[in-house]
Amino acid sequence: MKIFIDTAVLEEIKEVRDLGILDGVTTNPTLVSKTGKPWKEAILEILKEVPDKPVSVEVVATDTEGIKREAKELAKLGANVVVKIPCTEEGLRAVFELNAERAGVKTNVTLVFSPLQALLAAKVGATYVSPFIGRVDDISYDGLMVLEEIVEIYNLYGFETEIIAASIRHVDHVRRCAALGVDIATIPYKVIKQMYRHPLTERGLDLFLKDAKQAGISI
Ligand code: G3P
Repeated sequence: MKIFIDTAVLEEIKEVRDLGILDGVTTNPTLVSKTGKPWKEAILEILKEVPDKPVSVEVVATDTEGIKREAKELAKLGANVVVKIPCTEEGLRAVFELNAERAGVKTNVTLVFSPLQALLAAKVGATYVSPFIGRVDDISYDGLMVLEEIVEIYNLYGFETEIIAASIRHVDHVRRCAALGVDIATIPYKVIKQMYRHPLTERGLDLFLKDAKQAGISI
């Protein structure tokens, strides 16, 4: 499973990249606004920092022509740009037309909450699809169940669109995404940190260090 970080904070991206586990970055307007930086500056900094990894950047236009125009402009910002396009009728049409025109724009159909939306994203040839599992949980439904069905449908028909499990809230979401065989999980910084921390590792290390001292081990 590829690991993307779901953030627009440069320091978080750098830290996870330098740990050697980062495969890509996803942003959205909310995440960029949290940085307090002007939108374009924040995006350009990220693109520069991870030039060999896909970075999802979201459009704000809502009509097909506007989405296509913005998508083409965003794609010019860097070879690693993936344009995030909402799963609306206008958005799906924009993805279809960008592909038909061979515009060379990689797309990520976002704000996906159902298997049928994901099916349509694949049909129009999206590069990625982003089901939001945490937000499904928020409305007292099961986000992982939705995701599982999407994975099943994609496997049944051999769709090439890659699934990015998004809106991940905790480590158990990540574990279950991995067990489902999802292509990618985009994970907030805080949750990535929790993935490698374990109280038994910390307790075990403390004990080993204490015993090493007692045994006089020094290398
Ligand atoms: O980037 C999209 C998605 O991951 C947002 O997550 O926590 O705002 O539902 P959240």
